[in-house]
Amino acid sequence: MAVERTLSIIKPDATRRNLTGKINAKFEDGGLRIVAQKRLQLSKAQAEQFYGVHRERGFFNDLVSFMISGPVVVQVLEGENAILRNREIMGATNPANAAEGTIRKEFAESIEANSVHGSDAADTAAQEIAYFFSGTEIVG
Ligand code: CMP
Repeated sequence: MAVERTLSIIKPDATRRNLTGKINAKFEDGGLRIVAQKRLQLSKAQAEQFYGVHRERGFFNDLVSFMISGPVVVQVLEGENAILRNREIMGATNPANAAEGTIRKEFAESIEANSVHGSDAADTAAQEIAYFFSGTEIVG
C-alpha cells in the first residue's frame, strides 16, 4: 500500500445540518488525515465543470442545482490507500445500499443529497485536488 491523497467534498445537505465535524471525525477515526480544507460556495459554472463527466446523465441539472444550494467543504484526505479507504468510509453512493457505520448510511438523505463526494481513482483524485487546491495549500 502507498500513501495517497484524495479529494473529498462535504455537500450542502451536510453543511446545512452542521455535520462537518461529525463527518471529519469519521475520516480521522478511519485513518485518514485532513491535509487541506476550505469552505466554499460553488458557482453554477464551477459545479458544472467539476461534474462535467456526468453532463449527459439525467440527474446532471438537479445535481448541479443541489451542489450550489449551500456551502460545501472541499478537502484533501491523505493516508494509506486513501482513495479506496475514503470510499469505504463514505459507503455506497445510494444510502439505501450503504453499509452500517458509513457516512452515507448515517447521514445521507438521498442518492443526490448523499452528504459527501470522494474521488473514484488515482487520475481523478489528482485532477479533482488540482481543481480546488494549489500545492502550497496542502500541508501533509
Ligand atoms: P458523487 O459521488 O458526488 O458523484 C456524482 C453524484 O451524482 C453522486 O455522488 C450523487 O450525489 C449524484 N447522483 C444523483 N443521482 C444519481 C444517480 N442516479 N446515480 C449516481 N449518482 C447520482
